Amino acid sequence: MKLSLPDLRTMKSQRRPIVMITAYDHPTGRIVDAAGVDLVLVGDSAANVVLGHDSTVPATMDEMTILTRAVSRGVEHALVIGDLPFMSYQVSDEEAVRSAGRLVKEGGADAVKLEGAGPSLDRIRAIVASGIPVMGHLGLTPQTATIKGGHRAQGRQAEGARALFADALAVEAAGCFGVVLEAVPPQVAEAISRRLDIVTIGIGSGAGTDGQVLVLHDMLGIRSSDGPQPRFVKHYADMAGVVREAALAYAEDVRARRFPGPEHIYRAAAPKPGGPA
Ligand code: KIV
Repeated sequence: MKLSLPDLRTMKSQRRPIVMITAYDHPTGRIVDAAGVDLVLVGDSAANVVLGHDSTVPATMDEMTILTRAVSRGVEHALVIGDLPFMSYQVSDEEAVRSAGRLVKEGGADAVKLEGAGPSLDRIRAIVASGIPVMGHLGLTPQTATIKGGHRAQGRQAEGARALFADALAVEAAGCFGVVLEAVPPQVAEAISRRLDIVTIGIGSGAGTDGQVLVLHDMLGIRSSDGPQPRFVKHYADMAGVVREAALAYAEDVRARRFPGPEHIYRAAAPKPGGPA
């Protein structure tokens, strides 16, 4: 049974933490779904994490649609949220609805996510009016990091915190079913979470939100660059080490002619009696 939006509200009211994680392909979609996570985000972090870019800005609708389709085919229980990439919703309400529609119709997403309040509020209203659930994203919004002065925590001063609070109320009023709060001071994130009826999902925002999200590759220790990692990342596995060791062992086996062994080959069929010699 797919998790529903009312289920999320129930989890919030019962103070049961909501687990969200990113995935970008079919096998990891299957794995995290089998692990029982509640929400799977096909984030535009794909641009950094699996496509080799140094920001989320270059992610395209075609790329996000393909990745979302692969993930959603593997997820049975969790709600799949497709991330709207930069410039797929900023230009007009019509384009926003069309882009969201692609992630749902072609990508199989259950909902979409977009960043910001202000001009994004009309987009949220338009997409929700078309029948597609929307998750908001406030605080550090990577698509507009440049204009906000880089990847920095938001709402640290009283004025910024007040603005963040107002934005959170505004995305709720615009119709979002939930909102990601990224790199927001924990007290602010917790106060917003208590004030909103919709669910809040934190990343780098402390333990007071209704749920948490992490980027899968970050928690697995798979890095696509050697730069510093945000301090909110917790490593649950060293998959880079596992893959490196496996590749090394394979290379050694091939070079020493230990692989393939007799158990890895298809034997020629025994000749049929009376057949050609
Ligand atoms: O793109 C992404 O993975 C995200 C999460 C960090 C929330 O937006």
